[in-house]
Amino acid sequence: MVRKYLYGSPFRTDAVVKEIPTEKTVPAYGEIHTGTGFAYTYRMDESDRVYGLGENVRGINKRGFRYVSDCSDEPHHFEDTASLYAAHNYLIVTGRETFGLFLDSPARMTFDVGFTSVDILTVTCDSANMALYVVDGTDPQDIVHQFRKLIGRSYIPPKFAFGYGQSRWGYKTAEDVREVVRQHRAAGVPLDMVYLDIDYMQDFKDFTVNPHRFPDFAAFVEEMKQSHVRLIPIIDAGVKVEKGYSVYEEGVEKGYFCRKQDGSAFVAEVWPGWVHFPDVLNEQARAWFGEQYQVLLDQGIEGFWNDMNEPAIFKSVEGEQELRAEMRNYLETESAGQVWKIRDMVMHLMNNPKDYARMYHQVQGKMICHRDVHNLYGYYMTRAAGEAFARLVPEKRILLFSRSSYIGMHRYGGIWQGDNLSWWSHLRMNLQMMPSLNMVGILYTGADIGGFGSDTSRDLLLRWLALGVFTPLMRNHSALGTRQQEFYRFEGTEDFRAVIAVRYRLIPYLYSEYMKAALSDTMMFRPLAFVYPEDSVAVETEDQMMIGDEIMIAPVLVQNASGRFVYLPERMKLLRLTGDAPIREEVMEPGVHYVKVALNEVILFIREGRTIPIGASAEYVEALDPSSCRMYGFSGASYVWYDDDGTGKDYENPCHVRTVNMP
Ligand code: GLC
Repeated sequence: MVRKYLYGSPFRTDAVVKEIPTEKTVPAYGEIHTGTGFAYTYRMDESDRVYGLGENVRGINKRGFRYVSDCSDEPHHFEDTASLYAAHNYLIVTGRETFGLFLDSPARMTFDVGFTSVDILTVTCDSANMALYVVDGTDPQDIVHQFRKLIGRSYIPPKFAFGYGQSRWGYKTAEDVREVVRQHRAAGVPLDMVYLDIDYMQDFKDFTVNPHRFPDFAAFVEEMKQSHVRLIPIIDAGVKVEKGYSVYEEGVEKGYFCRKQDGSAFVAEVWPGWVHFPDVLNEQARAWFGEQYQVLLDQGIEGFWNDMNEPAIFKSVEGEQELRAEMRNYLETESAGQVWKIRDMVMHLMNNPKDYARMYHQVQGKMICHRDVHNLYGYYMTRAAGEAFARLVPEKRILLFSRSSYIGMHRYGGIWQGDNLSWWSHLRMNLQMMPSLNMVGILYTGADIGGFGSDTSRDLLLRWLALGVFTPLMRNHSALGTRQQEFYRFEGTEDFRAVIAVRYRLIPYLYSEYMKAALSDTMMFRPLAFVYPEDSVAVETEDQMMIGDEIMIAPVLVQNASGRFVYLPERMKLLRLTGDAPIREEVMEPGVHYVKVALNEVILFIREGRTIPIGASAEYVEALDPSSCRMYGFSGASYVWYDDDGTGKDYENPCHVRTVNMP
């Protein structure tokens, strides 16, 4: 049962797709105060656990810390970073009482989950205008299910998007890309996608291609397709200010860019230099921006990643002027030293709240200050693309994922988990974010495998790939200037093949579980706490994960470990997979086991009485042979297997589902 409560006149975010009547009474759980802002307070029982908040730092149980929904470009995030790239204002409290809360406001919001005071959960928002949804249900899974029905079906990518993708900020030319493909094919390492970062563009201008680096882009896209590789270009939020550049000219002429309060252009600096931000909150501007993708679709492109859409700002014109004045003043008044003050001034140029307060949208004839709707920008940019694809190529699934997001965006695309670092702690965070993202409908997700910033190590990359084998988005991506981390930069390349090939062996199962989760509004990645709520050890186990109804994973998350302790809440069958080698199986009793895991190995556990299909690997998704699948697990078990051609949209057709028994 979902109840809706309105305070003030909230901005319509379109996070929710179901119209439900507004309650006249007060919510059954917690207290609400409104005034200059909005405050929700709930007294937690000592044993209550709190889940949700999608993309955020720390564990799956969010208790004991505070988090701020304020979409931020935070490439160097730590354990105490309050805001990442997304705003997912959804919580589940479970214990003495069990309920879900969705606070639908695009303004900055703080979640203090027993941080200031151990028993008190508070949610405070800068704005007093709020749509609050309270979900009653029998348990967290039921609450997620009801919430997901409220916010609408999750995005479904084409099947090729379940393949492996190689990316790096630094591939500049067609030849660079060819080399990546050549290396993979020569070593028999599967590959379905190569991502094009900003260097494919002409001077970082969206929807352009540099003709010197990619002479005849359409032919190149086709050449890659002949090798069964899709090119996935990046699209940035900011449109370069440049006379003669048609996207800029047209946007200005039609008034489709964000402005300042006085109506003049809002100008900021991002990769291309000075840019304007398309006013994606404005319906016409959104439709127009979405149509720009056509130029790349026409050249054969079938997937995109939307970036810098918090939106990230390096500096604004005003910010630069203010910095100059501050610096002058500082240099005139302070005598010596304290260079860190100057550093701080410069750092404050980036993503400065003052800039977000200067920027305005035109929504249904009204000027809306960006600050009040900041958390919607990435969602609406991706919505622009998603809505355009539905008009331009209605029959086709287009791969689409975004950096910034808000609940609602899960209907149009997935996300990658933003810029991370080649740290073991970020590998763990990748795992722990998965169920939290599934709770808010984001199913197509994964992190930059190997880590984006800083230098990766061979073992970190292999362990990360072994987790990435299970995440719907499996992409190795790294930043300019860091150690190159394509598999062929390391010794013992056969180990990389052994791990990546396992992904392809598992695609029949992973795709089936993804589709079932999307079509039935359920989670693909579940914390053990949701599946074994009566088991006090399972409830606190946050470094293992349930995938679908059949399997549990336990990735190695620390360096120099030849294995790890694994907790089995029930009898399970351990499977060890190394490339196409015969799968080694072992039934294990409930309890704690130390399990050795070699660097070239992927392990998974099948639950008692369950079975899953595993096939032979292939070099790309379309070459997978369903007839190579065999059922693994416990005899007598049956599996409900979803499969389709991976391109069409007739998901509901019953011919896609069959039940397979394990002999
Ligand atoms: C941002 C993106 C990253 C990309 C870089 C250059 O940092 O998050 O993935 O490589 O910009 O475009």
